[in-house]
Amino acid sequence: MNEDLHVNIPLMDEKHEEFLTLLSNIRSCEKNEFLPLFKEMIEHTKEHFAFEEELMKKYEFYAKGEHLDEHKNLLGEMEYFYEKAQKLPVFGKSYIDDYAYDKFRRHIINIDSQLAMFFKERGIEL
Ligand SMILES: [Fe+2]
Ligand SMILES: [Fe+2]
Repeated sequence: MNEDLHVNIPLMDEKHEEFLTLLSNIRSCEKNEFLPLFKEMIEHTKEHFAFEEELMKKYEFYAKGEHLDEHKNLLGEMEYFYEKAQKLPVFGKSYIDDYAYDKFRRHIINIDSQLAMFFKERGIEL
């Protein structure tokens, strides 16, 4: 993972690292592996987001609403492209190749880093 994407909360960085590995596997996979791996990426993202959401609830994070909305949008978009890709693989491929990384990167830099800062300021170690 690029150094600039670390939020320095080990459990969060771990999820992000796993996501990037999955993404790079999809980008270089065989055609027949594309949809199963795409599905796996969605499942991983659900787990990743649920994990952060649990923490936000537990520690009463002040910007929880905004963060949850953003998760919902990202996941909804991923699922939309996955559905489309069933009939039109090229559609899913363009999402994976041209958008997914950037969406993910922006979420970490703009949203997850704010949550990580909140944990650090309160001395919450994860
Ligand atoms: Fe995250
Ligand atoms: Fe997040």
